[in-house]
Amino acid sequence: MTGSSDNTAPGSVFDAIVSRSSTKKFADTSLARHQIETLLTAAVRAPDHGLLAPWRFTILEGSSRSILGDAMSAALLEKTPDADAEAQQREASKAFRSPVLIVVSALPQPHPKVPAVEQLVAVGAAIQNLWVAAHSMSLGAAWKTGSHAYSATVKRALGLAEEEQILGFLHVGVPLSKAVIRPADLSGKVRWL
Ligand SMILES: Cc1cc2nc3c(=O)[nH]c(=O)nc-3n(C[C@H](O)[C@H](O)[C@H](O)COP(=O)(O)O)c2cc1C
Repeated sequence: MTGSSDNTAPGSVFDAIVSRSSTKKFADTSLARHQIETLLTAAVRAPDHGLLAPWRFTILEGSSRSILGDAMSAALLEKTPDADAEAQQREASKAFRSPVLIVVSALPQPHPKVPAVEQLVAVGAAIQNLWVAAHSMSLGAAWKTGSHAYSATVKRALGLAEEEQILGFLHVGVPLSKAVIRPADLSGKVRWL
């Protein structure tokens, strides 16, 4: 395997998959719109039972990241009314960890053959596609959820529909931290019959 722990682009699809990792720190460098569109193109090529396209992408970059930052701060106050100004600021700053944030949500629709779980799985596959594509372009990403993914306040602030489910806040950007690639551990997870 040609490793990419130094954040260089992997050489093959297999390399890209096995050397993907969560980026801890991003450079403050914005991405071009065509780069983001390339990532979204990779996302929507995920397998999709019934071709229902259950994914939705909300892009935040530059100052629009404060829409999420403010909402996360408000959601914190709802949960913890005595959170002080510093805690609120810390919460809001999470939206600024990367130059680009892609909020990936699922909008499952009733279908006689494709249950909601399959539509959610398709969106998960779209996130993975996006992440591996980013890595292949020498970009880094990190997938976050936490309580804010399930907050009505956050959803409303982002303009999402009530029935829409946030599956991930995808931080994307030029990686600054060294990649830490965890070993692929199959032990106890496979049965050969
Ligand atoms: C559905 C989902 C939700 C996740 N939510 C978080 C999160 O809230 N915070 C976080 O630090 N990582 C989150 N992750 C990323 C995992 O923690 C990460 O992939 C794992 O630690 C393995 O590290 P690696 O991505 O570098 O291989 C999430 C991953 C998935 C699939």
